[in-house]
Amino acid sequence: MLNSQPTIETLLNHRSIRKYTGEPISEEMLSAVLEAGRAVSTSSFLQACSIIRVTDKAKRTALRQISCDLSQAQYEQALAEGKRLGHAYVEDCAEYLVFCMDSHRHNQLAKVQTDWTEVMIIGAIDAALMAQNVLAAAESLGLGGVYIGSLRNDIARASEVLGLPKHVVPLFGLCLGHPDMSSKINQSQRPRLPLDILVSTDTYQVADENKLEKYNEVVREYYQGRGLDLDWRAQIAATFGAEVRPFMLEFLQKQGFCKR
Ligand SMILES: Cc1cc2nc3c(=O)[nH]c(=O)nc-3n(C[C@H](O)[C@H](O)[C@H](O)COP(=O)(O)O)c2cc1C
Repeated sequence: MLNSQPTIETLLNHRSIRKYTGEPISEEMLSAVLEAGRAVSTSSFLQACSIIRVTDKAKRTALRQISCDLSQAQYEQALAEGKRLGHAYVEDCAEYLVFCMDSHRHNQLAKVQTDWTEVMIIGAIDAALMAQNVLAAAESLGLGGVYIGSLRNDIARASEVLGLPKHVVPLFGLCLGHPDMSSKINQSQRPRLPLDILVSTDTYQVADENKLEKYNEVVREYYQGRGLDLDWRAQIAATFGAEVRPFMLEFLQKQGFCKR
């Protein structure tokens, strides 16, 4: 019988885990966390999500290359030059799961119009909820994990690696494993927006700028503690200050989504 931590305690203890001990996840644990994912709520009972468990080493390497935003040749050259590359956890984690929105099955079973943008939203929500059930269940068992959105750096190549048919889109990966808590990278928790910014009652409340600045300082201090000169504003600007994976609409349309 598996021993799991209470739910709220587990959720409040969350931090992304990027370094693992190397110990495999037992079949019993893996099956428990996948069952937890399977049990999740799903829009209109559509179950618009598929999980690909990536065990093949070459595929893991290819997916890590994508997360590093490097072609295979660039990746090999960087390794040969002894450069430090990111996202080692995609290769090192015990389990790597890719969550896909999936309307392929819908097209197999019925005559459907899955090219509406709403269908994409349904699939993305279903996949995210399922993944979070999986991660929360894993964390409750003492495992840890980190989501991998950088899989979308080259979403077409990732789809090829995973052999995805039309109407299936890989949204993000999830690394899982036994946390190496001796590693500093796993130890701290990132401070979240306080509830008085996060939650409005009845009507949307525009955030008080002083409160936002105060939170920005909290994040700056958090990063300072990790030797980084960064704050939340800089993080937002780094992500949303320029075009964001501009190939996405074309790819989604090629896969049969978001045409109208
Ligand atoms: C959808 C999604 C995609 C993410 N993609 C990546 C990723 O590609 N690489 C990575 O190292 N972390 C990734 N993360 C982890 C976030 O950076 C992390 O959750 C965030 O900084 C908050 O830190 P915490 O999870 O430790 O609280 C992702 C998280 C989410 C929810």
